This record gives sequence, structure tokens and C-alpha cells, in this order.
Amino acid sequence: MSLISLHINNLRNLSSVKVSPSDKFNLLYGPNGSGKTSFFEAIYYLMLGRSFRTRHNVRAIQHNNTHLSIFAKIRKDDELISLGIERHSGGKNLLRINQENKSSMLEATKILPVQLLNPESRHLLTAYSKARRGFIDWGVFHVEPSFILSWQQAQRALKQRNAALKSNASKTMVEIWNVELNHAAGRLNTFRKNYLAALEPILLNMLSIFFKDTFNLSFKYKAGWDEEDGLITTLQRTLSRDFQLGYTQHGPHKTDLLIRINNTIPAQDVLSQGQQKLLVYALHLAQGILLKKQSGKKCVFLLDDLSAELDVENRRKVIEALHQIDAQVFITAIDKETLESMGDFPNTCMFHVERGKIIPAV
Ligand SMILES: Nc1ncnc2c1ncn2[C@@H]1O[C@H](COP(=O)(O)OP(=O)(O)OP(=O)(O)O)[C@@H](O)[C@H]1O
Ligand SMILES: [Mg+2]
Repeated sequence: MSLISLHINNLRNLSSVKVSPSDKFNLLYGPNGSGKTSFFEAIYYLMLGRSFRTRHNVRAIQHNNTHLSIFAKIRKDDELISLGIERHSGGKNLLRINQENKSSMLEATKILPVQLLNPESRHLLTAYSKARRGFIDWGVFHVEPSFILSWQQAQRALKQRNAALKSNASKTMVEIWNVELNHAAGRLNTFRKNYLAALEPILLNMLSIFFKDTFNLSFKYKAGWDEEDGLITTLQRTLSRDFQLGYTQHGPHKTDLLIRINNTIPAQDVLSQGQQKLLVYALHLAQGILLKKQSGKKCVFLLDDLSAELDVENRRKVIEALHQIDAQVFITAIDKETLESMGDFPNTCMFHVERGKIIPAV
């Protein structure tokens, strides 16, 4: 899968942008405020139906305009898929795939898996568990067709159970949802564990290249409840506290990935900022490799400001890994020289971004 053309209208300062990228490396340079991140926002918006910059998608619409639109052609093996999304300021996303209206954004999301890496990605290590669950679930979603159903069932059971707890419903009412939640949690737990078990060797291999075995990094899966007792027993044991709190303390909504050094210290307590960035890149690159291995799908990597906090040697390691993955890659930088110093790979397109225009550069 790769984007072969992109047409963006009225998204932030991108009034009308048409780009035909390479299916390998695409390097974009331009000054602050020229539109580099907005270009990534457009790709992300098209595939996920939302911005990564704000919870208020409407803010991505260009000032003094009523709507934004993004169209793309995506090559999937021998097939060409056309994808379009439109968002009016007062309305919802309107998604079309091959000229057909679609009601669920997931239809688009599953076509082209997107990996966005920017200076904020480092927070994967320090953020709440939701971010790391999102990381695991990205991988499971793209390889396990029934994941989304189990995830939705867990969300529904959790919502109902929390509502029962809040309204001080009977113990029996709450316990009905224990059973539902337990079923969905069991499936999610298996998916997530299997995914991480497959990811770990790829990840460790990448880390030994990136860090030359300087750090003994470990990755420990945490289900979100006492796995020895099982979720039902855990929920029963903690029921009175759940009633006091008005929400469910344990379950698949608490799943986490503990990233540690020497099995004890949280990685972020030891690693420098650049090293944290490198670790997070390794996590996402490993996902790209596994995705291809498990499903044959290629993802598109969007690397915003790769050079920030990474020295030349580490940038090269990242670029070399991306080259090995054979993914479609977009990388931004302020100046052309930074991009040129990253190496010379075949089928690379260079673009100059200037005041909302994206022009092929030589
Ligand atoms: N809704 C909007 N309508 C029009 N312009 C906008 C809107 N929101 C933001 N902008 C402007 O769009 C421009 C592009 O921003 P963007 O973040 O894409 O720049 P950038 O090239 O990534 O810059 P940097 O190198 O600083 O990260 C900025 O000048 C910003 O002020
Ligand atoms: Mg930017």
C-alpha cells in the first residue's frame, strides 16, 4: 500500500495542494509555519477521520472557509483505491471510498496503516497507560479482524457497569456486566499478548542495533487485573471500592506495557531525551516490520522533525531501518541540508514547502 496522489483543500494553510509522492522516501523541507505538519495532518485526517493536533477537528478547516477536503489514490497490490473525506464546519466527516459513501472511518483506517512520529511521540513512555494501549491496539487492529468487535464489546460492558456503579444499582446488576466484560477482556488479552510476543524479538533486535546493547531494556505486559485470580474474581473482590469510586478499577481498559531498564527502573528515568526518542522510534519501526510479516501490509511513516533531538548517527540508523522496512516514508525538516545529510536512497522525492505550497524540488 502506498499513497500515489494526494489533493488537499482548505486544511490550515494548505489551500490547494496536489502531491504525487514516491512510494519510498519523501523529504519535505520548509521554514516554520510553511505547512509541513499540516500536510501530515491531512494524511492522518484522511485515514483516521481526526486531527492529531487537537480534539476540535473543526480547527483544521482553513480560517474563513466552510469546509476542508482531502482526496487520495492509494495503490494496494494491483488495485487503485480512491479515498475522499470532507468536513464542513457544522457537520460530520463525509467519507467516500471508490465513490461509495461510508459511515465508519474504520473502513479507511484499515486500508492504509499510518505511523505518525513527531517530537511528542516520546511521551509514549511517560503518558498514561492509554497511550501504550493505543500502541498495542494499533498492531492488533491491523492484523486481527475480530479485534474491533471485542474492543467495542468491552467498551460497552464497561460503560454499563460504570453506570450501574454510579447509580448505586444492585450487586446483581453490576455482576451481569462482570460476565460481559470478562468475555471481551479474555479475547482482548489473548490478542494483545500474542501481538506483543510476536513484536518483542523484532523490537529487541532493533534496539540492539540502535543502542548497541548499552541498555538492558525489557517489556512487560500488564493485563489490567490479577491474571492469576482472573477478572471475575478481581471484580468481585474490588466491588465495594468500585461502588465507592463509581467506576471500574480493573479490566482491559487498564492494560499497560511496562518499559523498563534492568527489569526495574522505568526507561524514561534513565534515558536521555534523544535516547527516549530513539526507543519510541524502535517501537514503531518494529510494528511496521511485524505488520508486513503478519499481513503483508505496508504502513506509511510520517516523521515530523526527525532531526530534533537526534544526532546524525542516530538519524542515519532510523533512516536505514526505514529503508530496510521498505515502507512509504515522509520526513520533514526545516532545511534541505538536514534532509540531504540523512543519506541517499533510490526513489526519493524532495519537496519544498513554502507558505502552504508543496512543490517538487531538485
Ligand atoms: N485553521 C487555520 N487556517 C489557516 N491557517 C492556519 C490554521 N491553523 C493554523 N494555521 C497556520 O498554518 C501554518 C502552517 O502550520 P504548520 O504547523 O503546518 O507549519 P510547519 O511547517 O509544520 O511549521 P514548524 O516548522 O514550525 O513546525 C501556520 O502558519 C499556522 O499558523
Ligand atoms: Mg511542524
